[in-house]
Amino acid sequence: MCGIIGYIGEKPAAPILIEGLKRLEYRGYDSAGLATVSPVLAVVKVVGKVAGLEAYKNTAGTLGIGHTRWATHGEPSERNAHPHCSRMVAVVHNGIIENHEQLKRELSAEGVVFRSETDTEVLPHLISRALHSGADSLETAVVSALAKIDGAYAIAVASSDYPNELVAACNSSPLVIGIGERELYLASDELALAGKVSAVVHVHDGEVVTLKRNGSYTFRGVALADVSARLEEPALHEEISKDGHAHFMHKEILEQPQTMRNVLAGRLREGMPVTFGGLSSEIEGRLRDARRVMLVGCGTSLFAAMAVRDLFERVSGVMCEAEQAAEFSYRSPILSSQDVVVGISQSGETADTLKAMLLAKERHALCLGVTNRVGSTLSKRVRQGIYLHAGPEIAVASTKAFTAQATVLSLLALRVAELRGAAAPVWIQKGLGILPKLLQESLAEEERIKALAYRHANAKRMILIGRGSGVALALEGALKVREVAYMDAHGLSAAELKHGTLALVEKGVPVIALMPQGRTGLRDKMLSNLEEVKARGGDVLPFEAKPGLPEELVPIVLAPMVQLLAYHLGVARGVDVDRPRNLAKSVTVE
Ligand code: BG6
Repeated sequence: MCGIIGYIGEKPAAPILIEGLKRLEYRGYDSAGLATVSPVLAVVKVVGKVAGLEAYKNTAGTLGIGHTRWATHGEPSERNAHPHCSRMVAVVHNGIIENHEQLKRELSAEGVVFRSETDTEVLPHLISRALHSGADSLETAVVSALAKIDGAYAIAVASSDYPNELVAACNSSPLVIGIGERELYLASDELALAGKVSAVVHVHDGEVVTLKRNGSYTFRGVALADVSARLEEPALHEEISKDGHAHFMHKEILEQPQTMRNVLAGRLREGMPVTFGGLSSEIEGRLRDARRVMLVGCGTSLFAAMAVRDLFERVSGVMCEAEQAAEFSYRSPILSSQDVVVGISQSGETADTLKAMLLAKERHALCLGVTNRVGSTLSKRVRQGIYLHAGPEIAVASTKAFTAQATVLSLLALRVAELRGAAAPVWIQKGLGILPKLLQESLAEEERIKALAYRHANAKRMILIGRGSGVALALEGALKVREVAYMDAHGLSAAELKHGTLALVEKGVPVIALMPQGRTGLRDKMLSNLEEVKARGGDVLPFEAKPGLPEELVPIVLAPMVQLLAYHLGVARGVDVDRPRNLAKSVTVE
């Protein structure tokens, strides 16, 4: 996934583009570039993070486009960085052009010379070709170029032949327009515009937009009144600042008690049925009669689904499965209209999850979404869904979204139980109701966990073990340690240790034990597994919640502890924990 930005107005564009790209860096950060029209077209590109563009902040021009990249086609390099150009046309693109090989052959046969290895470069050549074969405007040329491509895209186009306009378009890739004081912006994410605009409009799939220097804008084929009806309040600036924390990841971990209050607000109320504004009675009827609920996602979203699966079945009485989205799409699952498939994605843009939902739709399952992003592709693709209300998550490694996703899915299980006339178990309602307080108590362990992280910062590897729904948290914790500390880490069921992974345990290997509560007998099993570890010299480090909690809520309550462990390990090992290498906040390619 990449980030694109655009500006047209009276101020110098370059510094505005650079600052906007910094806010979009969570989307990809292996190379960056910008183009301005002043009225000559100036293009600059760098390998590495956006900060490298600071050297070009005095590039002239009050109109421009910019890009920060997560390489899909062609290694991170200056020639593969965006913008890509053809004659006087410059293009930035987020997405994938699936038929770029065939278009490249067609254009090369006409004498076009390609400078990069990217799929994107076909776009400026197609637009420039259309302009030279009589297109009456930049917008018309863009429309004719888009008619030839297959794939997902959000693009912005600038041309020195059209110094008073910018053209943009999207299909299965997010794009938002920002309206300022005699200036207009475009971006992959409204977060990049927070504090700069008075209103935003999300661009719908297939729409082409032209932004004019006089502050006017047109959505091709859409009446202005209809566009005005889609104007929304922009995100708040403070939502994207670190608020004094050293890293977004630390801020987002410590925000969880408040995030949890937002997740529960208006949904879980004493003596009232669980309420989801986004689910109609027709959809609730299908949920009531569902034969099976399948939760699909990737990365942390998958582990949130796995953490809730047992609870979902126990509380709702409906069969529930948690599936890796990418494998789900290729294993040809047996599905029918009696099945409900829930796509779980913080960003709502992860291609593997979107593909799984397309398959579920083709097989007539009821498709629902759980996402944190209003206007995301997932929210547009499914029948209905539930927003997390967790606020923007900027650090690449997902933290607060994990506890929010697991809680929303637990609430959904409660709602299904209610719809099926089963009395919702009080213990789970009570447990969910006090989650903000329980998360606060887990965060109070930070100093102990930080000391532990520094003590083990140079360990060869780390092992995290759990039982029951704690296994999902062990998997999530290990993912976090790999993501932000670059340490070899394994997450598994403590019972599985003796079937192989115990071979990795030797003197000093830290083994994080996510302790089950006492009631289910799992705790005793865990204690004997730990004896096997101690006997091999492993350094057992127990993480546990206070007693008396429903077993199924332990993964949510202990999550901040494993997140803080990974965070402090990463900081101790000098990793850029907000922007770990080779990763992106969500991946829009399969
Ligand atoms: C990865 C992120 O790219 O995608 C992970 O680095 C995330 O943090 C995963 O869990 C899935 O993303 P999403 O947005 O679909 O939940």
